[in-house]
Amino acid sequence: MNQKERSAEAVSGIVDVFRCPLCNSPMKVFALKSLICSNSHTFDFSKQGYVNMMNRPSNGHYDKKLFEARRRIIMESNLYTLLHEKVSEMLKKHLDGSYEPTVLLDAGCGEGSHLQKTLDECKNDAITGIGLDISKEGIMMAAKNYKSPIWLVGDLANIPLSDQSCHVVLNCLSPANYEEFKRIMALNGLIVKVVPRSNYLKELREILFTDKNKKTYNNDEIVSLFKQHFHLEENVKLSYVKELNQTELINLVQMSPLAWNSKKEQIESFMNQDSVGITVDLDILVGVTKHMN
Ligand SMILES: C[S@@+](CC[C@H](N)C(=O)[O-])C[C@H]1O[C@@H](n2cnc3c(N)ncnc32)[C@H](O)[C@@H]1O
Ligand SMILES: [Zn+2]
Repeated sequence: MNQKERSAEAVSGIVDVFRCPLCNSPMKVFALKSLICSNSHTFDFSKQGYVNMMNRPSNGHYDKKLFEARRRIIMESNLYTLLHEKVSEMLKKHLDGSYEPTVLLDAGCGEGSHLQKTLDECKNDAITGIGLDISKEGIMMAAKNYKSPIWLVGDLANIPLSDQSCHVVLNCLSPANYEEFKRIMALNGLIVKVVPRSNYLKELREILFTDKNKKTYNNDEIVSLFKQHFHLEENVKLSYVKELNQTELINLVQMSPLAWNSKKEQIESFMNQDSVGITVDLDILVGVTKHMN
């Protein structure tokens, strides 16, 4: 069985989770080749195993180089290892065996390393991971590197999954669409949203931003919007400093859209340092769907 067929088989095992992004009807897997809805809208499994469920061309704003740098920082530099440990701890604590099997969607998964690492950390075969991103480049890379999750090119604003089909939504450093998240979340489903706090990657921000105003950032509005949609069970503040060497600093710069608008000399002086302690400062918002009374 090749990767395309393996993915098609994994999807057919939970096919009720999928819905057509064009007409919202249920889907079936056909001949281990395509996902087809009851109105015959057809989405093929690619050679690498992902499915492109966009109805228009999509590439997002991130290129291959940026995603490759993110993969290296996440998988090789372990800058986010404590985050993956904490997220998996939160999943264990809040799910507490309530859903098995569990469907976990990483909404805006990029090149997929956070999802893969989180699943590795959970060590729970009952969890099926689905990674969704609008960037075909990101999803293609995810599918090439990580074989067990299901990878979809799709839009957060029109998630190709059925109502109440997901037990966990993970939304890590990515945009959100809370109406869609609430639609796809199972009753008492869990949302884990990772958002930067004011000191997140501050060493990089300080060097990249010349405008003083831009240096300060807080996530108050994001947290307050989250609370309007979900009951906030827990807000875990995760702050630490990790030393990165020169090669890792180059990856750090390349993985960040912050570098797009910055001066070349500043970037180069940052990358020329032997090593720098880099601050990771995040909020992990853990929420559940609010009940209507
Ligand atoms: C900062 S990146 C984070 C990616 C990944 N979670 C990580 O931390 O490495 C934001 C991601 O959101 C994706 N994104 C932006 N708008 C989206 C949309 N409407 N639907 C799906 N993904 C989207 C981008 O393509 C990008 O991969
Ligand atoms: Zn359809």
